Amino acid sequence: MKDKKWWEKEVIYQIYPKSFKDSNNDGIGDLQGIREKLPYLKELGITTIWICPIFTSPMVDNGYDISDFEGINPEFGTMADFDQLLEDANKLGIKVILDLVINHTSDEHPWFQAALKDKESPYRDYYIFKEGKTEPNNWRSIFGGSVWEKLPDEEVYYFHAFDKKQPDLNWENPVLRQELYEMINRWLEKGIAGFRIDSITFIKKDQDFASLPTDGVDGLASCKSKTRNRPGIEVFLNELKKETFEKYNCVTVGEAPGVPYEDYGDFIGDDGYFSMIFDFNYSDIDVESGSDWFKRTNWTTKEFKEKLKRSQKVLQKNGWGANFVENHDQPRAVSKFIKPEYQTDEAAKALGMLYFFLRGTPFIYQAQELGMQNAKRNTIDQFNDISSIDNYHRSIQEGYTLETALDFVNKRSRDNTRTPFPWDDRQYGGFSATTPWLAMTEEYPNRNSQQNPVFAHYKKMIELRQQGQVSEVLTHGTIVFLENVPDNVIAYKRVLNENEVYSFTNLSDTEELISIKGEPLELLLNSHGDLVNEENELKLYPYQSVLFKK
Ligand code: GLC
Ligand code: CA
Repeated sequence: MKDKKWWEKEVIYQIYPKSFKDSNNDGIGDLQGIREKLPYLKELGITTIWICPIFTSPMVDNGYDISDFEGINPEFGTMADFDQLLEDANKLGIKVILDLVINHTSDEHPWFQAALKDKESPYRDYYIFKEGKTEPNNWRSIFGGSVWEKLPDEEVYYFHAFDKKQPDLNWENPVLRQELYEMINRWLEKGIAGFRIDSITFIKKDQDFASLPTDGVDGLASCKSKTRNRPGIEVFLNELKKETFEKYNCVTVGEAPGVPYEDYGDFIGDDGYFSMIFDFNYSDIDVESGSDWFKRTNWTTKEFKEKLKRSQKVLQKNGWGANFVENHDQPRAVSKFIKPEYQTDEAAKALGMLYFFLRGTPFIYQAQELGMQNAKRNTIDQFNDISSIDNYHRSIQEGYTLETALDFVNKRSRDNTRTPFPWDDRQYGGFSATTPWLAMTEEYPNRNSQQNPVFAHYKKMIELRQQGQVSEVLTHGTIVFLENVPDNVIAYKRVLNENEVYSFTNLSDTEELISIKGEPLELLLNSHGDLVNEENELKLYPYQSVLFKK
């Protein structure tokens, strides 16, 4: 039998299907495109791919608005294409996990359509409808505006935590829950390795639906404190696990924002709801909240380090973490964490080393392994992402100039990581032969998958973790942060029996000295061409990272 915690050994690569590779030249990435690029992924060394939603969808939120959980979006291909992809991936030893979006559906889902058509339909109870002459409360949705949308012919509103085209499912209804479980099991029966589970902490809403003190000039209040990780959610999450995941030896990665560290045991402990969850506490260091991009912070490396330390400590105490620096909702890590003058290949390598050897399963977002940077757009209509458009207008409403508003959006837009994958320097980067659905970044002719030094470095990082002498300690070793280092240096060791690996990263634009007195260390990996050794002290260049073995 497969080890129950087999997923601790994986390196997971996230694919945004719309932007990975277009096989039929309609400007949109697709399943055959992913299939074509499996050898590239094999060469990189990853062991699992997580594919963002590929299901039937009007694509208002690029697939996070599903109108048929068991159909493939025709833009991406057919079920036969999916089966072929799964088979070929498995043949190469690559597992496949899919995105499970069960907090909401598209408003075009037949359940919602049936609910709209007939007041008496049992499907009314699949969603959250409330009668009233005005909005039932003042909650703001994640993508802006009220969480309530009025039905055209009735004094009735429906609830949506995200876009109005994404009505929330009513998890209070056991019939709906059962339907979801059956759907999940059918996917697992197909032989996928598991799921990344979208926005799962939103499934329980406070049933009082009480208004909150406003927190913006729009007169609304963020819905998060009433709709995210609310009491009673444990009943749904336990049931979900029992009825589905537990019956299979699958991996489950929860997107679980809003879970306080005290509750991590419930989520990822031995009897937890999921194998692992993402912790957003340090990835959102540049903004006060992941949904209000105009509230920017002046973060320091020291603060970042403290957050990272705390996160790793909590994860280690309770279970296992899903480590990442990029995803389809975040800007490019190099642009976020590295000062503009230092955004080089070396810095991209260092950032990779900083997070990749933390304790947990490393996730790589497509083209992160190329050291990609943010795109720069000059007008708001060059954006596709709905939250970019919302944040732009909210920033202006909050009193910022058009220019500043655009700057906030450029820094944080989800389009930054959704630009088409640059395979080479041809027009459209070898992604497609026609104009892609979203413009490429300006940098693609010079930064693409051909002869890319960052790629070669990621390959080495993966090799170190997966094979050879330090593989076990890098996977299963405990993590201990080192205290005797400058504020700008993030240092930790991984320890397993007599094996120790040390990681030092200078996350700043100044040179920093670290002391390495004691036993001789063997250099395993270096983000830079050299390392300056000065009598028991190492001098780290700005944004240099080094990995040693004891
Ligand atoms: C998650 C997804 C994001 C999506 C949202 C609504 O946060 O990662 O892309 O927009 O849920 O489904
Ligand atoms: Ca296509």
